[in-house]
Amino acid sequence: MGRTGRFTVLCLMLTLLAAVRAYPVGEQSSADLQVEVPRQEKLLALTFDDGPHPEHTAVLLDGLRDRGAKATFFLVGCQVELAPELVERMAAEGHQIGVHTLDHVQVNGLSRKDFDGQVEGLRRVLYGLIGERDLWLRPPYGIMDDNTLRWADSPVMLWSVDPEDWKDGNVKRIVDHITGQVRDGDVILLHDIYPTSVEAALQVVDKLGEEGWRFVTVEQLLQYKGRTGEVGQVYRAVR
Ligand code: NI
Repeated sequence: MGRTGRFTVLCLMLTLLAAVRAYPVGEQSSADLQVEVPRQEKLLALTFDDGPHPEHTAVLLDGLRDRGAKATFFLVGCQVELAPELVERMAAEGHQIGVHTLDHVQVNGLSRKDFDGQVEGLRRVLYGLIGERDLWLRPPYGIMDDNTLRWADSPVMLWSVDPEDWKDGNVKRIVDHITGQVRDGDVILLHDIYPTSVEAALQVVDKLGEEGWRFVTVEQLLQYKGRTGEVGQVYRAVR
């Protein structure tokens, strides 16, 4: 996404709303359980940033459900306010949820207070919807500094395959970009605020699914590779 634009105005208003909400504390996440998982191959993690989008994310969730695929969603606060029911649905259907800041801001250079407002602030909103659990961070634009890692209080998840789906909305180009280069353990960056990206993602699941690839959350990807996500560590692919 471009660094300025449509997030800004709406997000500023919603930040204020988020700050005054109450946050019930739910149950511990299953992510805290250390389970022996047999190593597997031909695994990929689809990740979607900047949502949820009230229409396009719903279509995506239908498509993932029909295909038995899991994904990871790095959410933005103002979009959550537009479609909180989709966040609950993501959790209910076994997808992983992470934070992409309240207002889609660059986190490098922020004060501790502003960083916590953007990251912990969104976590508290999400705890109110889906209960307290681990919510990994993906910094907008993948831009971060040492303080980001120090303050994240979670693993930091970047990506290894970026078709730049926001650029031209060309479904075939996006699908070809992804299917032409995936390796076991790749993490694919997409944005579910575009219908073309949703269509491309589902085509990728169909096409690679026929070749034996499976789509899991980033947390599952680490587990299947015999690893766990460490607080303050950056992950791109998981080999
Ligand atoms: Ni983003």
